[in-house]
Amino acid sequence: MKGDARANDGVKINVIVAMMDHNNGIGINNQLPWPKIRTDYEYYTGLTQRVTKPGNVCINMKGRLTFESSGEQERMNPLRHNVVISSTLKECPKGVGFIAPSFDAAIEYASEYANAESIWVMGGYSVYKRALQSPLCHRVHLTRIFHKAEADAFFPIDCLEPSIYKKIDLPEVPSDLIKENGVEYQFEVYERR
Ligand SMILES: NC(=O)c1ccc[n+]([C@@H]2O[C@H](COP(=O)([O-])OP(=O)(O)OC[C@H]3O[C@@H](n4cnc5c(N)ncnc54)[C@H](OP(=O)(O)O)[C@@H]3O)[C@@H](O)[C@H]2O)c1
Repeated sequence: MKGDARANDGVKINVIVAMMDHNNGIGINNQLPWPKIRTDYEYYTGLTQRVTKPGNVCINMKGRLTFESSGEQERMNPLRHNVVISSTLKECPKGVGFIAPSFDAAIEYASEYANAESIWVMGGYSVYKRALQSPLCHRVHLTRIFHKAEADAFFPIDCLEPSIYKKIDLPEVPSDLIKENGVEYQFEVYERR
């Protein structure tokens, strides 16, 4: 999987997010603020559980609220090793490999995990912020959603600083405007310069 983060030959972080264009909103009431977009979900799952060797896993790293908003299917997927960042969780919930008390602890754990093929940071706000500010952050897969709805959780778009991240084209990622279930959206990929 050329270009993706591999924990064991130089740690690299990938960020994945779907964000509304008008307000950078990513969530409301611990859910997504837009109607279900099947193709975006398939894009997200395709990237965040893709391994090239049997036994390998993708590290899926998220804040506690994002983890709590995820479904059983995501939690129990054997291709994913869930790391939840939390200062309050004391016991590992079902489907969680590790509770990290800080972002740095999560990265340290992921970088030492033997079968980690890639590391995906999945939000929310403060976890994205730490990832984007980290020199280990390699790529950002952003789905830009042209749908207007209220939000109470946001993507720290200011940290996707053009002097640090450049927009790139990947042959496998369509860049045209897509319309599905009444929602227009576009895939974008950014890479650290
Ligand atoms: N559209 C998207 O792509 C997308 C992606 C992700 C999430 N979302 C949405 O975003 C919302 C959740 O995001 P959020 O920003 O509100 O919350 P969040 O980051 O998922 O969770 C916040 C919690 O994570 C823990 N945490 C985060 N950073 C930490 C750190 N550095 N050290 C220790 N603990 C840390 C804390 O848990 P404790 O309180 O236990 O200490 C904190 O209260 C939901 O609505 C979800 O649906 C959308």
